[in-house]
Amino acid sequence: MKPFTASAPGKVILFGEHAVVYGQPALAVPVSQVQATAVVTPGGDGFWIEANDLGRRYRLEDAAAGDPLARAVELVRERAGLPQTPAGRLTVNSTIPIASGLGSGAAVATAAVRAVAEFLGLSLGAAEVSALVFETEKLLHGTPSGIDNTVVAFGKPVCFVKGQPPEPVHVARPFQLLIGDTGRPSPTKITVGDVRAAYEREPERYAQLFEAVGAIVRAARRQIEAGVPDQLGPLMQNNHTLLQALGVSSAELERLVSAACQAGALGAKLSGGGRGGNMLALVTPESSAGVEAALLEAGAVRVIPTRVE
Ligand code: PMV
Repeated sequence: MKPFTASAPGKVILFGEHAVVYGQPALAVPVSQVQATAVVTPGGDGFWIEANDLGRRYRLEDAAAGDPLARAVELVRERAGLPQTPAGRLTVNSTIPIASGLGSGAAVATAAVRAVAEFLGLSLGAAEVSALVFETEKLLHGTPSGIDNTVVAFGKPVCFVKGQPPEPVHVARPFQLLIGDTGRPSPTKITVGDVRAAYEREPERYAQLFEAVGAIVRAARRQIEAGVPDQLGPLMQNNHTLLQALGVSSAELERLVSAACQAGALGAKLSGGGRGGNMLALVTPESSAGVEAALLEAGAVRVIPTRVE
């Protein structure tokens, strides 16, 4: 029998990370330069999972409690109404750096859900895929807002508010970003937990910071939809300052954000959970090469150019 193959892109959060956990909107876009792929090959002895980038291979029934890929398989099997997963092998591969704010967990789970669904003869829409992947995200992140599974499963720029269907964002004029990777993995669960603890200590102060982030997100969406993305630069700076105040920046991120701005980026900010992972710089065709060189010089382990359209 033929194998069933599916893929899913990475993602970046443009504006609104962390505040989105507290009900504020956030903007995120897919990043197709990095991808997760999943293949289900029918047959063999039982159902096996091979996670190549993690160097792991195990039988479905031997998966550790809380294993997100095993959960993805089980969720699709339940949705298909089958008592047992037929024999096969799920192989996942990913070029998305792990724990770096590029949505690797959501992308791997999305690709796996899609490939297993096809294997079981199910046709799932983006909203259904997103809902199943959200269940696996909970195993990785504790209390995720749902933004990662949403943008990855829909594969389009979205404005996301927790608990609501995503709104597509119309990009009236494409723009260019550089994603600079600090090379330092930073599990989102930890930064989200630290922000939660800080919020519980000083609820009013943090609620104000979240509100201020929400106002930036709404302004950014208007500018993207009005076709004036060049004006996003100052909003990125302001969002970054608020993320610093939330305590999720780091020395590496500060170095990259400053280097990008000094080299002519229109704006720059950390992206995702913070304390490591990635940052974003808004560039023009003229400034792109210089900013990329500056990011590498300032310690970025890789720079991924991406066009938002
Ligand atoms: O997965 P990351 O690192 O891009 O971060 C997710 C964004 C947060 O707002 C920090 C958490 C969440 O669940 O929305």
